[in-house]
Amino acid sequence: MIKAVEHGGNLAHLAALAGYEPTDCIDFSANINPLGLSRAVRNHLIRELDHLTVYPDVKQRQARDYLATYHGLEPENFLLCNGAVEAFYDFARWLQPKRAWILEPTFLEYRKAFASTGAQIQSIPLKEPAFTWTFESLRLDLAAVQEGDVVVLCNPNNPTGTQSSRSELEELVMWLGRRGAWCLLDEAFIDFIEEEDASLLPLLQKLEKLVIVRSLTKFFALPGLRLGYMATGHATCLEEIRQQRPPWTVNHLAASALPVLLADTDYQRRTYEWLAKEQAYLYQGLKAFPSLSVHRPTANFIFFRYKGQRDLRQRLWEQKLLIRSCWNYPGLGENYYRVGIRSHLENRRLLEVLGEVLENEKGDS
Ligand SMILES: Cc1ncc(COP(=O)(O)O)c(C=O)c1O
Repeated sequence: MIKAVEHGGNLAHLAALAGYEPTDCIDFSANINPLGLSRAVRNHLIRELDHLTVYPDVKQRQARDYLATYHGLEPENFLLCNGAVEAFYDFARWLQPKRAWILEPTFLEYRKAFASTGAQIQSIPLKEPAFTWTFESLRLDLAAVQEGDVVVLCNPNNPTGTQSSRSELEELVMWLGRRGAWCLLDEAFIDFIEEEDASLLPLLQKLEKLVIVRSLTKFFALPGLRLGYMATGHATCLEEIRQQRPPWTVNHLAASALPVLLADTDYQRRTYEWLAKEQAYLYQGLKAFPSLSVHRPTANFIFFRYKGQRDLRQRLWEQKLLIRSCWNYPGLGENYYRVGIRSHLENRRLLEVLGEVLENEKGDS
């Protein structure tokens, strides 16, 4: 049996336990761009090694100026983080809310971040089978939201892949603002969606109690570098967070890479080309299995429910393919899984092996 794990992406450890060579295995459990590190970023990081002899700029001026121009906002609207995940803990520590309302199933770190500051976690279950929400459908659930509370949303949502419309999000955030409540909106996977108006960033200055978190680790395939940022139109939130947190949590290699990443339009174009093909290929391939109920993907991963009895993660791991079981997300049971979309050959291998596993199942009863 492979041991249950909290996050995806720990292939090296699991391979060592199983006695596999990591290079013989394929990791579908983490949602990382399979194009890997771009050449421009690799060259940049190598060049910048010589600058590791000095401390990074504690105010991250160059990167924040770049973000301001890039998003058409002000440098004060941004703060870099050591991966998006740091932002959840920083914000929780700064806000110290009595209650954190979380639409679940979703990324597990929100719960941990707000629980760590003593907040009461109020789970709002998203309803099966679609796991979507509208402002109208949430109003009753959120009736008890009070001033100073926070509602946490992930768009597109991990692990379900559902995307909320900008108008629904805007209506919700405005309604929360009128109650004096905050919205923490995690847009870690939004770069994978090519639509112009998917993000709420352009509305930042209009919605004062909104904090948006972005990750650069998934789209640009550098989870080991740790880089993300938070954005808000609130006057003091980010500066207070910066002063509260230890200095230099974002290292020089990460901070200096930000302009290089965002300017790398060639990598971005190649990513969209790969994703358009492979998202459709893997989605159609998975949908063809009658025992899987597959959710339409929006980003670089696919979520599905398995209607049979087998432990799919274990069966696939026996063939050195690692997928994410969603058993530990609140609201999901053992039969939910998530797979990251990878290269064509790797996706084809997944469909082949899954086909064998599901075919053999017919002899089970
Ligand atoms: C929805 C979501 N947000 C944030 C993160 C963390 O991203 P980072 O690597 O930038 O800390 C993850 C990582 O899996 C995630 O799934």
